[in-house]
Amino acid sequence: MDEHILQIKNVTKKFPGVTALSDISFNVKRGEIHGLAGENGAGKSTLVKILSGVYPADTYTGTVIYDGEELNFDREALRSAMDKGIAVVYQELLLVPEMTVGENIFLGREPVTAHGSVNWNKLYADTRELLKKYNLNIPFSARVSALGVGKQQMVVIAKALSENVKVLILDEPTSALTEAEVDTLMEILERLRHDGITCIYITHKLNEFFRITDTITVFRDGMVVDTVKTKEITTEKIISMMVGREMKERYPAETRNPGDAVMEATGISVPDPLLQHKKLVDDVSFSVRKGEILGIAGLMGSGRTELVSAIFGEYGKGRQGTIRINGEEVSILSARDAINNGISLVPEDRKLLGLIVSQSILKNISLPNMDQFTKGFSVNRHKEYYECNEMSKRLSVKCPSIHSIVESLSGGNQQKVVLAKCIMSNPRILILDEPTRGIDVGAKYEIYKLMNMLAGQGVAIIMVSSELPEILGMSDRILVMHEGRCTGIIDNDENATQERIMTLATGTSVLN
Ligand SMILES: Nc1ncnc2c1ncn2[C@@H]1O[C@H](COP(=O)(O)OP(=O)(O)OP(=O)(O)O)[C@@H](O)[C@H]1O
Ligand SMILES: [Mg+2]
Repeated sequence: MDEHILQIKNVTKKFPGVTALSDISFNVKRGEIHGLAGENGAGKSTLVKILSGVYPADTYTGTVIYDGEELNFDREALRSAMDKGIAVVYQELLLVPEMTVGENIFLGREPVTAHGSVNWNKLYADTRELLKKYNLNIPFSARVSALGVGKQQMVVIAKALSENVKVLILDEPTSALTEAEVDTLMEILERLRHDGITCIYITHKLNEFFRITDTITVFRDGMVVDTVKTKEITTEKIISMMVGREMKERYPAETRNPGDAVMEATGISVPDPLLQHKKLVDDVSFSVRKGEILGIAGLMGSGRTELVSAIFGEYGKGRQGTIRINGEEVSILSARDAINNGISLVPEDRKLLGLIVSQSILKNISLPNMDQFTKGFSVNRHKEYYECNEMSKRLSVKCPSIHSIVESLSGGNQQKVVLAKCIMSNPRILILDEPTRGIDVGAKYEIYKLMNMLAGQGVAIIMVSSELPEILGMSDRILVMHEGRCTGIIDNDENATQERIMTLATGTSVLN
C-alpha cells in the first residue's frame, strides 16, 4: 500500500480571467490530518471541489491519484466521490432541516424491510450505534432544525462516517462553532486519526493547525508554497509563507483620542420570543464615543449579536430601552431607521449578508450608496467606478476586476464586499459583527487599518468578536456579555487580559 492516499500532480484549474490553481503538486499521507493554509482566494476550496467531483476531471489539467488510482470524475456521477470514500463538510451544511438526524444520515440509502418499506427500527438502531461509536452526543431522532450549528455539523460528519469514508475534508468547519463545540470537533478528529481516516482541514484560525494537524500545505495565489511538518514550523513562518512577506505585528499600532459620546443605549432588553421569562438581551446600557472602538466580547450565544441587532432596529417594537444619538433620543424600529440615523451594520451570518451574488462587485458596493454618485437625475459613473474600485482595492478583494460577479469570489472575498458596502455608506456609527471571520491574516490587517482610519475620522465603531486577541488588539474599551447581561465594561489597559475577559464572559464573577 502506498504511503500516500492522495497525490496531486501538476493540477491547474482556470476560470475566465482567473487561474485558481496553477500547476500545484503535493501529497497527503494516509491517516494524517493535513491542513491547508492560504489567503482568501488562494485556491483551497477549488482544490476541495476537484477532490470531491464538483469539478469533473475534464475541467482541469493535471492528475490526482487517490488510493493508487487516478481520480476521474465525470459529469454524471455526482455521488461518486462519496462512493469512493471522499466526503466533504462544507461551511454551509447540506442537511434537510425537517428530517430527523437518522433520516438525514441514511438519506437515499434507507434500510428496507422484506416488504420493501423503510425499516425504521434498523435505521434508528444503526444511527444510534454509529453515534455511539464516535461518541457523538446527538439525539438520533431529533429534527435537524432543532439542533444548533455545532450539532448539525456532527450530523454531517456522522453521515460521512456511515459511508465508509477514507478521506474527510473539512472546509472552514469551526467558524460558526462555540468553543465547546470546537473542542468536541477536535476530539472527533483525533478519534478519526486513531482509526486511520485521513483528514484535510482548512481554516483561517491558525492556532487550530497547531492543535490538530500533522502536516500543513500553504497556498499562495493558486500555487503551493510548501508542505511542512506542523511540529517543525511556527505561526509567524506560516503567515509569512501565506502572505509572501514577514508580518511582524498582527494589529496596527494606533493612539486614539475618542471624543464625546455619539450614542448612548440605556436599559436595552430583548425578550426571548420562545421562552416567556427569558431575555435574549437583559437590561444592557452602554455608550460609544466619537472615534472610539468598543469591543463586545462574550461566548457564543451570550447575546452579543442580539444586542447589536437590537440597536440596528431588528426587533422593532419588541426591544425595550432608549437609544440617544448626540444626546437626543431617537426611535429605531427598523434597519431603515438605523441607517437614517447614521448606523451601519456588517452582520455575522454570511448567508444573510445581503449580497446580490449574481451582480458585480461594483453594483453590490454602489447600489445602496447611489445617492453619493447621483446629482439630480444623472449618475456619475466615473465617480461610482473610481470610489468603489478604491474601496475594493483597499480591502484587497481578490478579483479579475470590479465587474466580476460576486458569486465567483472565494468565501472570504465575498465577506470583504459586504464590508466595503457598509463602509462606503459613511456611517457615524459602524457596527461590525465578527468582521474578520473567514478572512485571512493579511486582509485582517488591512481591515484593522481601515478601522483605525475610520475611528481617526471620528466614526464610532462597535466590534463584536469571538477572538480575544482581536478584541484586545483593537478596542479602546471592552463590553463583556454573559447570558444576555453585561457583566462588565472595562478599559483596555494593562489590566485587561484574556483571563479577565473570560472570567466576565463565563459569569464567574459579576462586576457592574
Ligand atoms: N466559479 C468560479 N468562477 C470564477 N472564479 C472562481 C470561481 N470559483 C472560484 N473562483 C476564483 O478562484 C480563486 C480561488 O478561489 P477559492 O474559493 O478556491 O479560494 P479559497 O482559498 O477557498 O479562499 P477563502 O479562504 O476566501 O475561502 C479566487 O480568485 C476565486 O475568485
Ligand atoms: Mg474557501
